[in-house]
Amino acid sequence: MSKPFTQLLLKWNKTSNHRPMPWKGEPDPYKIWLSEIILQQTRVEQGWAYYERFVKNYPTIFKLAKAKDQEVFKLWEGLGYYNRCRNLLHTARFIVDEYNGIFPNNYEALLALKGIGPYTAAAIASFAFNLPHAVVDGNVFRVFSRFYGIANAIDTREGIQIFNQVANENLDPKKAGIYNQALMDFGATVCKPMGPLCNDCILQKECVAFNRNQVNVLPFKVKQIQKKKRYFDFFIFNYKNNWLLQKRGQEDIWAGLYQFYLVENNALTLADAAYFKQVLQQQLAIKQNQVMATAISDPMKQLLTHQHLTVRFIEVALKSKPIAFSKALWIPKANLNKYPFPKLIADYLKKKA
Ligand code: ADE
Ligand code: SF4
Repeated sequence: MSKPFTQLLLKWNKTSNHRPMPWKGEPDPYKIWLSEIILQQTRVEQGWAYYERFVKNYPTIFKLAKAKDQEVFKLWEGLGYYNRCRNLLHTARFIVDEYNGIFPNNYEALLALKGIGPYTAAAIASFAFNLPHAVVDGNVFRVFSRFYGIANAIDTREGIQIFNQVANENLDPKKAGIYNQALMDFGATVCKPMGPLCNDCILQKECVAFNRNQVNVLPFKVKQIQKKKRYFDFFIFNYKNNWLLQKRGQEDIWAGLYQFYLVENNALTLADAAYFKQVLQQQLAIKQNQVMATAISDPMKQLLTHQHLTVRFIEVALKSKPIAFSKALWIPKANLNKYPFPKLIADYLKKKA
């Protein structure tokens, strides 16, 4: 039985993944390889046209192997980093000469080819041959670091190893190709780097980052860890003079104290309409007409022993209780002083009183 993550991802893939791409479901390893090499250089939107031109001009590996260097370079134009194009040609000719034009059908032999690293070898092995090798790219780091709340840095050897292991543990070995493509599509269209669509996300209930309000700070990179600058936006939700409180967990600063709804970011975001829309509508499913007023404080700084905090308070008056908070703690304003808050929040409340 596969893990809940895997089941939900495959369910999402079946019902909600509408991402057409010309190489999707393609069984020919040559074409899969072409698409992956192009996508190492550029985004899907731009890579699409290059892929179609390559396939049209060189429908088989024999055609590509026989092509003149200059002609292939010309087709590559605009993608940059011509070493990749050189490797492409080298490998096409190598496969024609050494393997009679037949792509190797196992991971190790794929990995041994020039220009093919672990990611591309896993992609070809799984897409073309349905072999159980998980792809690990930026999308995969992001989805797993958020879903499982893995804070290991993705730019360290140790972190990469952990994500590799997690990716392979979650792989459905019988559906490796579908699983890998679904994971990439999910990372690109739902669990996006900026403004992930948590509100519509099939994984939301079990997603650690979502439940800890850490969606915007995962995945971690070493650079961020060293700086230890953190940006907290406290959303003070107020419904009929009842204020929404949350109890902090045990792992972080201010363990067990109370706070307002926290959104943590990597930088001081512009508190503009798009940001509010992302938090209120996309993350919390609060409709625009449920909101009466918002007021934003100036950023306040606080130095802790190992961290440098920048904190804002954003007051949001609501006309109704959002579904996302139906089970939350709503405290009458007069009773707020019964709850222990971090000093910064207590100070803010004192100033307001
Ligand atoms: N990026 C690299 N390979 C990809 C693929 N197969 N689908 C979507 N994005 C990708
Ligand atoms: Fe990603 Fe949000 Fe879904 Fe979690 S709830 S997996 S952060 S989109």
